[in-house]
Amino acid sequence: MTSLLSGKKVLIGVTAGIAAYKIASLVRLFVKADAEVKVIMTPQAKEFVTPLTLATLSKNPVYSSFYTSDGSGEWHNHVELGLWADFMVIAPATANTLSKMVSGACDNILLATYLSAKCPVYFAPAMDLDMFKHLATQRNFEMLESYGNRMIPAESGELASGLVGQGRMAEPENIIAFINNDFGQELPLQGKKVLITAGPTYEAIDPVRFIGNHSSGRMGIELAKTAASLGAAVTLVLGPSALSVTHPLITVVNVVSAAQMFEAVEERFASCDIAIASAAVADYRPQMVADQKIKKSDSSFAIQLERTTDILNWMGSVKKQQFLVGFALETENEEANAKKKLQKKNLDLIVLNSLNDKGAGFKGQTNKVSLINHTLAVKAFELKSKAAVAQDIFNEINELIDA
Ligand code: CTP
Repeated sequence: MTSLLSGKKVLIGVTAGIAAYKIASLVRLFVKADAEVKVIMTPQAKEFVTPLTLATLSKNPVYSSFYTSDGSGEWHNHVELGLWADFMVIAPATANTLSKMVSGACDNILLATYLSAKCPVYFAPAMDLDMFKHLATQRNFEMLESYGNRMIPAESGELASGLVGQGRMAEPENIIAFINNDFGQELPLQGKKVLITAGPTYEAIDPVRFIGNHSSGRMGIELAKTAASLGAAVTLVLGPSALSVTHPLITVVNVVSAAQMFEAVEERFASCDIAIASAAVADYRPQMVADQKIKKSDSSFAIQLERTTDILNWMGSVKKQQFLVGFALETENEEANAKKKLQKKNLDLIVLNSLNDKGAGFKGQTNKVSLINHTLAVKAFELKSKAAVAQDIFNEINELIDA
């Protein structure tokens, strides 16, 4: 049987822990599984295992600084390394490196590569018992998992200090088994591209004022996180929102106005497989934007508005292979209006939320939706967290795509 790792490009990041000596075996196992391996090390990791050993075993140069120190002027591009890899494994991952990964510190080539990597990242912690148990370390594990990184659990046993407990780096065979198992799980949206609009838009009146709305962007962010957890490569076109998201499979494109949101969607729609318009896009914008702050006067003041492009409608009019999902926020004749919208905008699915339902809508943490598909069948759901609603929406999308 050919290995699931066969042909995969693996970037191993070695940090300065005693378990670094086991990385020679890890490299061997990856090479035996027919993977292509490159190694980067923190400068201190070289005290534990030599770059020569790892270069010889991986059949590739080992990187431990941003440039070659022999005066040749050769620069090692961490961005290219990050893009090269199908996945990155940081092993052993010391408490120090884990904490820097959490904060985004970037004082060596390994951390710079980690920060720029778009591929899945695994980390195999290795440290002494009490460091492992410390709340700071435990919190760092949680933070990294919330970034979408995958922890390969540390094992229990005798540690370098002589203490016995959890903190030993997983054995190389177990690291390979863990990753193999991950690759074996065919995720439902693996290889699919998902485009999501989210948040409000701000339409400028003058340099200091705008017309906006109360959308938080949360529903769209939860949809992006769900799609990424199902293996999709997600582009989230996000209007001005106080919320943010970090995940290796999510690319965030920040926009402000409806026009900018349209431009971002127009550029990306053709190549996506699933598009979801969850943004609360302004339907109108001021016809003229004043160059200077508008001064008050005693008389009344009117702003002439003009229509913005209906982004969802545009997607519906040009769509080919894409599965297209829209949202409808209704206050009366909810189902009938949502069905009309689904047909008019040529959608495959519409998510209806009614402002009459307590806890539903675009401001809070929860939502209560009905999903209406192209056959006009309606599925009504209970009030749930927006994360759970996102899961329901993707369950329905996957069911309809597979049907
Ligand atoms: N939408 C969009 N671009 C716009 C306006 C809306 O992409 N300029 C999308 C929203 O993201 C949402 C859906 O269209 O998916 C909402 O449809 P819309 O017709 O705007 O409905 P409502 O906002 O509910 O308002 P109305 O009933 O006034 O049409």
